[in-house]
Amino acid sequence: MNRAGFLFFVFAITGPTFPADRPDRDQRFFDTRVAPILTRRCLGCHNQQLNNGNISFQDRDSLLKGGRRGPAIVPGKPEKSVLVDSLRHDGELQMPPGPKLPRKEILILTDWIRRGAVWGTTRAFLHGPEIIRLPQ
Ligand code: HEC
Repeated sequence: MNRAGFLFFVFAITGPTFPADRPDRDQRFFDTRVAPILTRRCLGCHNQQLNNGNISFQDRDSLLKGGRRGPAIVPGKPEKSVLVDSLRHDGELQMPPGPKLPRKEILILTDWIRRGAVWGTTRAFLHGPEIIRLPQ
């Protein structure tokens, strides 16, 4: 296949968006929808200084590794993610402690993991508890 043919082939199998678009979209999803929830609801107890359950929401690797219950997030598999389980408040681990998150926020976090748990670029979220407050 020549170069033009190859490009056409790539275009044909990926549809009108180019492959590079998708990570951007998922990053934006994290920055605008996911990070504010994690920051407001979870980061206060799960950060690099205070990592309850041995997980920090400042660091994707920490969530992939998880605590003693196994990976907090399994990208693409919300049903295998301890984090999603804990949000339902019907098992032993109930997060956050206290009232359950609103349904909409649970759906956003579940959707985020289903889409691969792509991390974003929100600097405030990624660096230190002293700047964890994001615009809401
Ligand atoms: C008030 C503090 C607090 C808040 C807020 C909080 N957590 Fe936790 N979290 C804890 C504590 C304490 C543990 C350890 C509990 C245990 O092991 O029984 C824990 C453990 C966990 C674990 C299990 C780690 C493991 O493998 O044992 C997950 C997953 C988790 N939290 C997710 C969340 C999520 C998601 C949020 C936000 C929606 C959140 N937490 C908010 C205090 C908190």
